[in-house]
Amino acid sequence: MQELYIQAEAFLSSMKQFDGIHYDASHWENRLLEIKKEIAQSGTYTHSPQELEFGAKLAWRNSNRCIGRHFWRQLDVFDCRQIDDYSAITNALERHVSSAFNKGAIKSTVSIFAPRHTTQAKTPDTVTILNHQLIRYGGFKQKDGSIIGDPHSLRFTEACLKNGWKPNEQSDFTPLPWILKINGSYQPVYDVFHQKPELLNEVLIEHPENKAFKDLGLKWYTTPILSDMALVIGGIIYPCAPFNGWYMGTEIGARNLADEARYNTLPKIAQLFGYDQKTDRSLWRDRAIIELNRAVLYSFDRDAVKIGDHHALSRQFEKFCKNEVDAKRTITGDWTWLIPPISASQTPTFSQEFDPTVTQHTNFFYQKSELNPSKNATGKCPYHLA
Ligand code: ARG
Repeated sequence: MQELYIQAEAFLSSMKQFDGIHYDASHWENRLLEIKKEIAQSGTYTHSPQELEFGAKLAWRNSNRCIGRHFWRQLDVFDCRQIDDYSAITNALERHVSSAFNKGAIKSTVSIFAPRHTTQAKTPDTVTILNHQLIRYGGFKQKDGSIIGDPHSLRFTEACLKNGWKPNEQSDFTPLPWILKINGSYQPVYDVFHQKPELLNEVLIEHPENKAFKDLGLKWYTTPILSDMALVIGGIIYPCAPFNGWYMGTEIGARNLADEARYNTLPKIAQLFGYDQKTDRSLWRDRAIIELNRAVLYSFDRDAVKIGDHHALSRQFEKFCKNEVDAKRTITGDWTWLIPPISASQTPTFSQEFDPTVTQHTNFFYQKSELNPSKNATGKCPYHLA
């Protein structure tokens, strides 16, 4: 309990540092006394709406692996702490999907459900969402061992099928249903995008010059809404707090569609452009990956869906770092994630060093996943919930 108070204190001291002008001087002392009392009585404490909102923003600001943190104060925060019945939860998640998409002008958004109970350690969480992201494509293993769709989703897709999901197709881009638990019990699988197709917004990928590119049939969804991380604010754990920003093109063009262990489209693209695949030294992969990334940015722009490119986002991140240093605030970061997966040396972050300390009291953390044990931490990872 002492531990929780120390984290609350650290959080409030950050809040004072950033947002102090909105409160009079006595506020912080009084609030800390109140929190101390509440923890002594109940083993936990409750965030005010202002603390919840600022805390979510600060958790984003503290996320070492995120290059988009310049805009950390522009985050829509939905307070869903009181929502605990099935249809109200799915409504809240659906509202998140459509409000975050915002007709293409994507808004960074987080929906925060009930905190973890601290007193009785055995009490299950009020709301659990087992999906990795609210929108994601299924991965279907075929008899011959090949995979249709996203290999990253194999285990979760199997769990969906085992729990009674009847997909109306098994294609490369079949959106997954939602699996929720309320107070520890599984709810019926909800095929949300089958029932409400208007919630699913996707961008068909075409190339600015190569007209045959679109025949590859590639597409991606517009909004990456991570739903399997825990939000921690001042030591209070929110195990269900789906959040999103907008995409950086390379996430799709240099990873999701390009990785050999994902959609592995580079050989097809190289063939389309007539690159020599007999030797790596023709740099056919490098040339294909650049054309794919051009196609991704071009197609999102065509549909007026917000997307960042790695040059602009790196510059913006540099500005964020400079602002913070000028204001005498520390900034932490994970270089291996902050540099983009293509053309890293062409961005200012490449030659920069970052303090890798992971702020523990307020941040986003990976957490144990029932349906995807491979994601569970082995050993001590500072990005995992202890
Ligand atoms: N890399 C993940 C994906 O491709 C999304 C992670 C969050 N990305 C973001 N731009 N907020 O789906």
